[in-house]
Amino acid sequence: IDPSLAKTPQMGWNSWNNYACNVNETVILDVANAIVSSGLKDAGYHYVNIDDCWSVKAGRDNTTHRIIPDPAKFPEGINGTAAKVHALGLKLGIYSDAGTNTCAGYPGSYGYEQIDAESFSEWGIDYLKYDNCNNLGLQGNATVSSTRYKRMGDALKNVSRPIFYSLCSWGTDDVWDWGRSVGGQSWRMSGDISASWDSVVSITGQEVPIANISAPGGWNDMDMLEVGVKNSMTNTEYMSHFSIWAAMKAPLILGNDVTNMTSDIKKIIANKEVIAINQDPLGASVLQRWIKGNTQLFSGPLSNNSYVALFLNLGNSTATMSATWSDIYNSTTVNSKKSIPVRDLWEQKDLGNSKGKISVSVEAHGVRLLKLSGRA
Ligand code: DGJ
Repeated sequence: IDPSLAKTPQMGWNSWNNYACNVNETVILDVANAIVSSGLKDAGYHYVNIDDCWSVKAGRDNTTHRIIPDPAKFPEGINGTAAKVHALGLKLGIYSDAGTNTCAGYPGSYGYEQIDAESFSEWGIDYLKYDNCNNLGLQGNATVSSTRYKRMGDALKNVSRPIFYSLCSWGTDDVWDWGRSVGGQSWRMSGDISASWDSVVSITGQEVPIANISAPGGWNDMDMLEVGVKNSMTNTEYMSHFSIWAAMKAPLILGNDVTNMTSDIKKIIANKEVIAINQDPLGASVLQRWIKGNTQLFSGPLSNNSYVALFLNLGNSTATMSATWSDIYNSTTVNSKKSIPVRDLWEQKDLGNSKGKISVSVEAHGVRLLKLSGRA
């Protein structure tokens, strides 16, 4: 674990949303190559993460007690795959579980934390996603849940390779209160996302009351992106999903088949100005300022005295939304006459200066994501 790895939310790709258990070296290398050739690496996506189902299901090696990579799926071992992923300038992530078995029934790391951390380090692993299935009922309060996650956090601290530690703890026992203290650099704050607009809206609502907890070093993980996964939403909905995750400083872990994506999807996930909001060095999430009917205003500070405002319309028809400087800057003592330059980050276009307030038209299920260069 190296604190400098989590200065901003992690960016990458994970196999689960699109491939579920059908993961193997070919999938991982095809994806890694596509991340480079499509420009996603240059946009900041560096982790290629293997999820559940990569090992021999029957069990550990009898003598060494190590987890064994499935030779049919990873014929050169995980270290062989890691070498190829590293040669592309990318990082490799793996998955295990803070219980006896993973959710799909493969060996988990509970009781074998140090052995597994050593395997991961030797293989060249850069990232561990650590799931919560089959946990022997060791949950129900923060002390019991955090102990299981601390065991792996401590093991990772004992190995030579810096490994990003991602807790897949589903919000259990208010993980946002203890994730940092066990070495976690991000922690899932909700159950699994599904490829639907309702799921995006639901996770957003769950994040609202805890959004201020994300900060450099540790992030609320709103789960992997569904943008472009199985044509599940409209492009407008995908842009909203991506905007919310970016502005709430959630990890940006792609879930789609990057080897075969439309130019619309690529434009969304590679939008440099939206990604820059997520990767802003200040690392402060937007906070919800108000709800009016189906519309919601979020805003928050960026570095260089800038600010970001996210106008969200959950309704089924276009809405006009207006926010004053005191709404956006969340203060009653603003200079309400101040003129501030505004830029639309999806259109990548300056909108000119606004004085005292902003009014925008927002599509059904859509957002406007605006950057304000200054404070009132
Ligand atoms: C539950 C996790 O929350 C998912 O992200 C995924 O890793 C599956 N388990 C894999 O079994």
